[in-house]
Amino acid sequence: MGYIVEMENITKTYVGVPALNDVTLRVKSGEQVAIIGSSGSGKSTLLRCLNHLELIDSGRVAIDGEVLAETDERGRARYRKDAEIRRLILRTAMVFQHFNLFGHLSCLENITIAPIRIKKEPPAEVRERAMELLRVVGLEQKADAYPGQLSGGQKQRVAIARALAMRPSVLLFDEPTSALDPEVTGEVLRVIRQLAAAGHTMVLVTHEMGFAREVAERIIFMDTARIIEEGPPGQLFDNPGSDRLRTFLQAVI
Ligand SMILES: Nc1ncnc2c1ncn2[C@@H]1O[C@H](COP(=O)(O)OP(=O)(O)OP(=O)(O)O)[C@@H](O)[C@H]1O
Ligand SMILES: [Mg+2]
Repeated sequence: MGYIVEMENITKTYVGVPALNDVTLRVKSGEQVAIIGSSGSGKSTLLRCLNHLELIDSGRVAIDGEVLAETDERGRARYRKDAEIRRLILRTAMVFQHFNLFGHLSCLENITIAPIRIKKEPPAEVRERAMELLRVVGLEQKADAYPGQLSGGQKQRVAIARALAMRPSVLLFDEPTSALDPEVTGEVLRVIRQLAAAGHTMVLVTHEMGFAREVAERIIFMDTARIIEEGPPGQLFDNPGSDRLRTFLQAVI
């Protein structure tokens, strides 16, 4: 089976701060991967380098087998033309910690705007799909509500519907429940769990260890800009191979 995501030997430094140091992540179609690790270890940067919110310094990034960036003979990342990058990054869709919904648009409009404006899909068809997605996340009655009228959990479910509306090859979640009150965390996890069970390819950065264990086939543990360990949840959580992971798990579980 082909890889949806190929990030190979990625290096990324923010003015003097190494955020990714020779990191390799490959994700197959239908696979669910969770990334764990302490604050500042590079988890968000890895996702952001995949969907082009950040640029890599060196390494190779490909989505669906199509290369976005590759190291040239001088060891620097060379990116494809802008138009091709814009097309390719539409194969990823990110769900952010703070939702990032458009406050002046209704829930339905938040979901339909990118497929209509960016992908130029027929509006009637997009709206129909958006209503179906609102049903999937349990919010069909909120189609005409504005984000300001919703709870955090509801906002995040709209953000998930918005991501799905783009029909991405891979869904990226960056701590989707960290900004939520505990009583609404469950409703968001339930939606993500459903998507995983339906076979959506996803990369999930999370502090919810129980959820990572349940939903992901593979766990990646990052520390100080590197991947330290990866493997099936049982292996990492029950039999950590490094002191760093053992210490991290003792602190968070
Ligand atoms: N825009 C930026 N400018 C400068 N340094 C940054 C920037 N974004 C991240 N960093 C630094 O890069 C490193 C990796 O940050 P990153 O946000 O990827 O970590 P993280 O694992 O997602 O952490 P958290 O769990 O707190 O979200 C950290 O040292 C961070 O301070
Ligand atoms: Mg982060």
